[in-house]
Amino acid sequence: SFIASKSQLNLQLLDQSDFVSTDSNTTITLPLLTSILIASLIQFLVGYNTSVLNPVSSFCFPEHTTLQWSLAVSSMPLAGPFGSYFSSLFSSKYGIKKTLKTTLLLFFFSGILQTISQTMLQLTIARCLAGLASGSSTVIVPLYLGEISPPNIRGTLGTVTQFAMVIGILASNLFALLLGNGESWRSLFSVTAVISVLCWGGTERGIVESPRWLLVRDEGCWEARGIIRRLRGLRYDEEIEVEVEHILASSSSSDPPPSTLTLFLDPTLRPIMLTCCLLQMAQQFCGINAVFYYSTMFFDGVIDNPLLGSVVVAGINVGATYVALLLMDRCGRRQLILWSCMGMFWSVVVIVFGMKGVFGSSYVALVAVMSFVSFFEIGLGPIPWLIVAEMVHPKYVTPAMSVCSQLNWICNFCVGFIFPIMNEKLGYLSFMPFGVVLLLTYVYSYLNLPVVMPEIGPLKEELEKRRKSIDPAIFESISENLSGDLNNHQRQASE
Ligand code: GLC
Repeated sequence: SFIASKSQLNLQLLDQSDFVSTDSNTTITLPLLTSILIASLIQFLVGYNTSVLNPVSSFCFPEHTTLQWSLAVSSMPLAGPFGSYFSSLFSSKYGIKKTLKTTLLLFFFSGILQTISQTMLQLTIARCLAGLASGSSTVIVPLYLGEISPPNIRGTLGTVTQFAMVIGILASNLFALLLGNGESWRSLFSVTAVISVLCWGGTERGIVESPRWLLVRDEGCWEARGIIRRLRGLRYDEEIEVEVEHILASSSSSDPPPSTLTLFLDPTLRPIMLTCCLLQMAQQFCGINAVFYYSTMFFDGVIDNPLLGSVVVAGINVGATYVALLLMDRCGRRQLILWSCMGMFWSVVVIVFGMKGVFGSSYVALVAVMSFVSFFEIGLGPIPWLIVAEMVHPKYVTPAMSVCSQLNWICNFCVGFIFPIMNEKLGYLSFMPFGVVLLLTYVYSYLNLPVVMPEIGPLKEELEKRRKSIDPAIFESISENLSGDLNNHQRQASE
């Protein structure tokens, strides 16, 4: 289980150089803030559309069959992989800003069509548009935030996208409760169109193009330098050039853009991609979206007010994501994934016994679902998305994110489509298969995630390469940091 290899070392190098090229007091400027806000609102729409059918299953076209409903729910994740695929192509050609605007346009049309839909088929087609937009958003938003934000808040921002998404999930359930148990489902669907229009208005002046995208096309681009100046609030050209150097050093603009196949053929990247893909699969097959797609149906007959149950679960989910925000840069990724899998596994056990009625009160199952989503949000929720950008060299991040996102949506579709059938056939055991996935993920992560064995050779080579592009004083500082890191890893390895 030798997962960490050269690319992970490159990652360490990048982290260290990132660290030295920024102030410890990060300045959050207005252009940075508005860009983060608008990008997060797009991710909010992903969460909103994920759960918007959950509260309205008994009101929206009430004569629907189980198959029709699961198709309508899962048409969104079905279209997701296409959105992820096309947005990565589109963004490398036309830039991230234009891709974000196209994503908003798709959300807008989806919102309108959902609101005026007259049949289940029309609703299903409208949800496909939301799926295209969501697939695009899951690739583009984290990428964009990573490219515009100062390096020392990137970890936190990685969780912000998840945060925006879970607030979207809560909002759809809460609005349904406030509107009266989802009866006003058309108003609920129209929120997507309204928010897309508001965001679209904000994109013109509120969002900046990714400076990396501009610099990769033209190293001397003045627009990119102007954007860096505004984003960072810098006054001196030298400071801007340090960041430009850093972006160029990690982009290798002269190379042709890497293909998806390269990710799996390159022996250094392959194990990293394998881990990324397995974690994405685990993230979906652990059954999290069975909760956010169907909790109201699932709680029906178990607790008195199923919609209130869904709102409480979604609220707890937001709280847990906030805790994750605090934990993310303090605890290791491995530790959080292990806690997450174990916690979710035991929650599944309690859900199963709770549904069987072993504990006397069915509210035990509700509490167990809350614990299930909480443990998800501290690990399996945000980390599979975060580690792609962390483990893969920046040059490969866009195709890697696209592959992971496509896989994630495919697995998401499977759960969304199959769960209602599983629920009918397996009854109280319907969460059991998710428990098996969680145990397997625990074992895999336990065996594979910890190994970070620095290879001295490539490390030195990489440092030599970087010596040429980095200021000597900064270089010394990187070396010091790295040797500290190396000693730590060697000590941990020998322990
Ligand atoms: C993750 C998953 C997504 C899920 C969400 C729930 O972002 O990718 O499918 O709906 O977490 O919080």
